[in-house]
Amino acid sequence: MTSRSATPVPPTTIVAAEGWTPISWQSKPIKQDVDYPDQEHLQRVLRKIERLPPMVAPGEIQRLRQQLADVAQGKAFLLQGGDCAELFDYCSQGPIEAKLKVLLQMSLVLIWGARMPVVRIARMAGQYAKPRSKPTEMHEGKEILSYRGDNVNGYDPDDRTPDPERLVGAYFHSAATLNYVRAILAEGFADLHHPSNWNLHHVKSAALRQEYQTIVDRLTDALDFMKTIGADPNAGGAPSQTAPSTLNTVDIFASHEGLLLEYEQALTRLMTDPLNPAQSKYYNVGTHFLWIGDRTRQLDGAHVEYFRGLENPIGVKVGPSMKPDELVSLLNVLDADKRPGKITLITRYGVDQVDKYLPDHIRAVQSSGHCVVWACDPMHGNTKQAVSGVKTRHLIDITKELSQCIRIHKRLGSHLGGVHFELTGDSVTECVGGSMELRDAELLDRYETHCDPRLNYEQALDMAFLIAKYQEKQRGYSGVMSL
Ligand code: PEP
Ligand code: CO
Repeated sequence: MTSRSATPVPPTTIVAAEGWTPISWQSKPIKQDVDYPDQEHLQRVLRKIERLPPMVAPGEIQRLRQQLADVAQGKAFLLQGGDCAELFDYCSQGPIEAKLKVLLQMSLVLIWGARMPVVRIARMAGQYAKPRSKPTEMHEGKEILSYRGDNVNGYDPDDRTPDPERLVGAYFHSAATLNYVRAILAEGFADLHHPSNWNLHHVKSAALRQEYQTIVDRLTDALDFMKTIGADPNAGGAPSQTAPSTLNTVDIFASHEGLLLEYEQALTRLMTDPLNPAQSKYYNVGTHFLWIGDRTRQLDGAHVEYFRGLENPIGVKVGPSMKPDELVSLLNVLDADKRPGKITLITRYGVDQVDKYLPDHIRAVQSSGHCVVWACDPMHGNTKQAVSGVKTRHLIDITKELSQCIRIHKRLGSHLGGVHFELTGDSVTECVGGSMELRDAELLDRYETHCDPRLNYEQALDMAFLIAKYQEKQRGYSGVMSL
């Protein structure tokens, strides 16, 4: 075979954080590690994943980065949501469509309320691994390993031994989920611009139903008007909101907690920077956005070391145990160049603690010069035990933590850029309250989560309506109620 003289490709400059490599985390202490009984098997699986193609492209990751920079600067709002623990079983047409639908409907309400673009990130297509407070639990008098998520072991008590093949399962279930999301968005699934068809029968209070109906009517009116004049709802928003310019389709990004570092490492690739083709950078190509959980964010730990080298935008969960100066040190490590929107701080204190901790965190970040996205996760600090013994969350606590967050940011000259919810598109019964007035006694009717309790479809829409009403009030529209 004769060789053709190839055009020489100019070498690209590798741009990486100082002293960082995709394996540098391995020399640091690690929390929430999984102990695989067969290490050789694990290595074989990881070699396979390393060869599998990227699930997302660097250009998409950069687009999200730019959109999050808009959020950090108050020009867009972030909606992040999905299951606490995604199951391989959810990789199916119905559950994917239901989750997309609720995220899209919520975002439409939020766009209407805030009059700004909404950046949508799903906790989906990879949200399998779960940190646990205890490595073992008691089952029928026997101590067994805790369920660590579908990519580690099974929920069935007889299937708790970590199995490396589940990592390959995680890759293929993520890829299949993303593939279907891309396919239906391309087909116009996001054309949900008929809010007049939305069913509000679940709203028990007549006054609240009337209020939601008013929002829906005004939203319908606005969309009709824009359609008539051929306008794009994204037009006039943030300049870098590069969603296709029609009423019918949108961007949805994928995200998960970056917990299993062996898996994340296998999906970390040196790729040409689409914004600067002379440079190559390290991207995690298994998702668009990863976050560090509250249990694995130690400054000198393996997770922070891994995350500091990524080009992807990243999140950090911030709970009551975070010290203000520790937060700044973390930002200095994770965002050395102080790029707007590189970091999303996802605060999760609990309704009784938000007043105590958030103000000092905001002040510390303000004086550090980092331009972050502040997102409120009003779920994880508000988990309670129901009468039946299951874990639940009360909508009243969720609403209060969120409203306090908004007020505190405003008072300190900051702004809440987004929200982070655990939710599902189905009518499960895991959280108490909301406009459907779900009672504690009804929780076992459809209690399906394998981890934390999620907002159901109706409760998720409640939250969007509440935030939209608040945003509308901020803009000076009178006649709306309190949040
Ligand atoms: C989660 O988001 O599911 C989670 C475990 O959160 P946190 O790290 O904030 O506890
Ligand atoms: Co959770």
